[in-house]
Amino acid sequence: MKSMHSIDIDTVEMTLDIMKYAIHRISNTAPEMGSPKKEEDLLKLVGETVTEKGIGGEKAFELFKDVFVKATVPADHPRHLAFVPAAPTRAATLFDLVTSASSMHGAYWMTGAGGIFCENQAMKWLVSLTGLPEGAFGVFTSGGTSANLSAMIAAREAWRDQNEENRAFRALLITSNGAHSSVKSMAKVIDADIILVDDDEDDRLTGKWLQKAIDNLSEFDRKRLFAVVATGGTTNAGIIDELDTVADVCEKEQLWFHVDAAYGGGALAAPSVRHLFNGIERADSITIDPHKWMFSPYDCGAVIYKDLELAKNAHSQKGAYLDIFKDEGAQGFNPADYQIQLTRRLRGLPLWFSLAMHGTEKYTEAIERGLSLAINAAKQIEETPHLELVREPSLSCVLFRRKGWTAEDYRDWTYENHKSGFALVTPTKWTKNGESETISRFCFINPDTTEKDIEEILASMK
Ligand SMILES: Cc1ncc(COP(=O)(O)O)c(C=O)c1O
Repeated sequence: MKSMHSIDIDTVEMTLDIMKYAIHRISNTAPEMGSPKKEEDLLKLVGETVTEKGIGGEKAFELFKDVFVKATVPADHPRHLAFVPAAPTRAATLFDLVTSASSMHGAYWMTGAGGIFCENQAMKWLVSLTGLPEGAFGVFTSGGTSANLSAMIAAREAWRDQNEENRAFRALLITSNGAHSSVKSMAKVIDADIILVDDDEDDRLTGKWLQKAIDNLSEFDRKRLFAVVATGGTTNAGIIDELDTVADVCEKEQLWFHVDAAYGGGALAAPSVRHLFNGIERADSITIDPHKWMFSPYDCGAVIYKDLELAKNAHSQKGAYLDIFKDEGAQGFNPADYQIQLTRRLRGLPLWFSLAMHGTEKYTEAIERGLSLAINAAKQIEETPHLELVREPSLSCVLFRRKGWTAEDYRDWTYENHKSGFALVTPTKWTKNGESETISRFCFINPDTTEKDIEEILASMK
């Protein structure tokens, strides 16, 4: 009897159909700009898809192509400039297929040695961009949230190990107002309290402001304080905290220094802005998301530690069925030891393949392209009388206003542009001196975005 795993003519045909779709999609530089539909509308269109007997691969795939994928927004559309978009290289996306097809378990060197070797080659490059000292290394995670969480756990455990008394306190960490929501929500996961420090006039966390906040802590809170999270490129505005002075304070106060460069980390490879990250080489841990500005498909984050042993103390899992391998080849780097996940996809492989194929210079070029698109957008905004820059671009983020528009006008404009399949540019809020304003925001990642795209989007703000 035919089973789910048997190969027959139908399976071969379905494989060909799927490969044809994948090749077409991967080579498409302007995919249809889909938009979401309500769940009940989707259900009305397709009916139940999971049934006792199955609806068949052909039918399920047809529904995916005709209905479901059209109810998603392709993150790599060149006029998708909202949130932090994505632009995986074709090589990386193709290799994501290979990674799935190869069914590799990436928790342990024993089962994943060859694949982990490749991941580590890519990681070596990432680590070299940070300037961290010899011995620093990292591991690929499912994204920035899990990288931040893994780092915070390592920090909290290191702090607890310093002094038995620390186990009696609920931990406390300091970050800035501009920090990503994942820092705040992962603090909840580890049951730590969090203090948000005001930014300086340039909207950055600085050593001066950090020191002030620490000096204002009660004696009890000072005892509970274990880490500082700075941001290497805020999600909303691309702002990089003053990492060097923050590092000074962390050193003086003996606090774990984490830099969340989930979005901005790509720019470490861009010589034009690398100096803005000075001080990152003094971090205890760093988050970088290759699925943001390093052209990897979802999902791929990375956490890097100055001292891997501290991460291992926090994350290594023990089990009766582990540690049994006699084979010398089985001894090596176990990614499961350095982040929260055990069974894991070798999600660094698409980045490795693309890096191996193209070389790191091409990455630098593509990241510099995002930076120059931001500069170009700023110039076009300044030349348009009814538009105004809210602040100079930081990294690849540009904040600007359409003079005279209300929050409702921005929302309508976003909706119309998206609905017509033209572009996705969403409004954001910018707060200065306690006043919050709705404005517009570009975030450039995709090197296929053109100056003409920017011109046409701005022209639609009439
Ligand atoms: C600075 C920063 N940190 C963390 C995250 C969370 O990353 P992820 O969505 O990959 O979990 C983001 C996402 O935009 C981010 O910009």
